[in-house]
Amino acid sequence: MSPDGMERLKRAAAREAVDRYVESGMVVGLGTGTTASWAVRRIGERLLEGSLSGVRGVPTSEYTAALARECGVPLVSLSERRPELTIDGADEIAPDLSVIKGRGGALLREKIVAAASRRGVVIVADGSKQVSLLGNGPLPVEVEPFGWEATAEALAALGCEPELRRVKTQPFVTDGGHYTLDCRFPGIPDPPGLACKIKRVPGALECGLFVGLARAAVIARPEGVEVLE
Ligand code: 5RP
Repeated sequence: MSPDGMERLKRAAAREAVDRYVESGMVVGLGTGTTASWAVRRIGERLLEGSLSGVRGVPTSEYTAALARECGVPLVSLSERRPELTIDGADEIAPDLSVIKGRGGALLREKIVAAASRRGVVIVADGSKQVSLLGNGPLPVEVEPFGWEATAEALAALGCEPELRRVKTQPFVTDGGHYTLDCRFPGIPDPPGLACKIKRVPGALECGLFVGLARAAVIARPEGVEVLE
């Protein structure tokens, strides 16, 4: 599909999610990534036209915070308010709505905001993100930079090949000042079990497996938009 066609699908999913789930006065978690950005733009558009009012956003990254300001979406911090729900993208979506997130580099803050959201996360995506088993691509793990090589070794012992994410030659650094290890597993048949094992590795701050956090997924394909709840 052409890049324009993909953008149209992402936009359609985000638009449907905002129009279906966001109500006036709500505090909404604002995800990160190209699809989640369309949700921020849609909220801004509706605030401007007056069909929504009093919506405030909790951003999951500096990028999203800047975009929200540009689009006229007022922000509030997680210290002040808990979101009612979060709208966010995903890299892979399993049939039970377990997802992999973080290839866009914001997973730790995304997971904190998701877990703090009263009604969980609404995932927005194009149909290419649906998989029967998670693990088609790498699982991102956000790690403490100190001793990251030792953390990578401990993660490798769980059955993956970890690779430090880089921008050109330098390590990619998250908004929180951490590194990301992209861990290739040969399929992830037990997402909650693996998430628990990763949680026990010192230096691994959080992994991109979001299990039990998504309450719905809005998936756009050329034939139309489907809502899974
Ligand atoms: C960022 C993420 C993104 O939501 C995920 O990578 C999907 O991004 P996109 O909508 O650009 O495909 O998890 O950490």
